Amino acid sequence: MPYHIKDITLANAGRARIEWADRDMPVLAGIRERFKSERPLEGLRISACMHITTETANLLRTLVAGGADVVACASNPLSTQDDTAAALLQHYGVRTYAVKGEDTATYYQHIDRVIDHQPHITMDDGADVVGRIHEKRPEIITNILGGTEETTTGVIRLSAMAKDGALRYPIIAVNDAKTKHFYDNRYGTGQSTLDGIMRLTNRLLAGRTIVISGYGWCGRGIATRAAGMGMQVIICEVDPFKALEAHMEGYLVMPAAEAAKRCDIWVTVTGNLNVIGAAAFTNMKNGAIICNSGHFNSEIDISWLDDNSTDRRELKPMVQEYRLYDGRNLILLAEGRLVNLSGAEGHPAEVMDMSFANQALTAEYVAKYAKQLTPGVYRVPESIDESIALLKLRALGLAIDTLTPEQEEYLNSWNLGTV
Ligand code: ADE
Repeated sequence: MPYHIKDITLANAGRARIEWADRDMPVLAGIRERFKSERPLEGLRISACMHITTETANLLRTLVAGGADVVACASNPLSTQDDTAAALLQHYGVRTYAVKGEDTATYYQHIDRVIDHQPHITMDDGADVVGRIHEKRPEIITNILGGTEETTTGVIRLSAMAKDGALRYPIIAVNDAKTKHFYDNRYGTGQSTLDGIMRLTNRLLAGRTIVISGYGWCGRGIATRAAGMGMQVIICEVDPFKALEAHMEGYLVMPAAEAAKRCDIWVTVTGNLNVIGAAAFTNMKNGAIICNSGHFNSEIDISWLDDNSTDRRELKPMVQEYRLYDGRNLILLAEGRLVNLSGAEGHPAEVMDMSFANQALTAEYVAKYAKQLTPGVYRVPESIDESIALLKLRALGLAIDTLTPEQEEYLNSWNLGTV
């Protein structure tokens, strides 16, 4: 099958939403205009495994404008917007394999189809394409110039591969650009996670207690937004520096087993395994709502819930109630998958503008320079990162000061002290 989407009749509805998102993605739109005339990706095949959202559609059409032959699949079984997938296929020339709610076998079949495209550039959100190419299709690596990676979890996986000497081509960690993680991870995840919880549950947040496992940029963003909504915030961490920071921000800090006794809503954003497990479940308050906003559905030990419940029912789509043997009810959202993309629409276009400007400019960089790089995980060049920050400021109508020559000299000197 040269594509797999849910329903092509949704294409016009998808296009309208993609164009609407594009109005809040001025940096990416500017890059698209330049790509149309310069065609920096001419003749290159790109295989993208990303969340199929309106914002991603604007990235993919930018790559097409640059001359690339782009094929896409979903990087999560529940995050696909079916109207966007239809529009990508019908209006934007991107062969797409993504159906919201696809099962695990279909999810991997879709990844195999984008690998069949024999890419020159891979574009991943979670490193599933890179992992699968190395495991199952290593023969196509000779054609690959390089790749890009969107998310923290993917960068962690790829760095582990590089450390083991297993990674066979260069990948640029888009996640680590300042114009990506400081904004997307913090403000994007902060807002969209609460959005997902609210859309799925319609519970009042004010006055309730939220437990957040993980105080990286995503956890920080969720904590700020939750406190702003009137929630009491508890942070669970394994990193002493982050735990101290959370304490000094005014949040409660405690182990998961303690936090469980107080929690109304629990969100995991650690990138790790079974962060909510037996110790937390055993102490958890009746009626607690549990969800995850980290990349993989590994953070909640769902098998514990299956093994320890007498009954399970759907309260509404993506909201499952587990009745435990001891009579407590626990509510799991979105099967433990990314609640912000499954229950809502992911991060708003304003922040994805910078993340995807990084993706587009990094794809151009890979096309130009990857042949000079050995296999490994690389940072986005500082010049790209800074240019995106400046373009975003300009698009927002914000001006900033510049250093005077005297200030430059002062900063570069070591012999000027007290004046
Ligand atoms: N990751 C988080 N939010 C996203 C969005 N709106 N589109 C694509 N990827 C995302």
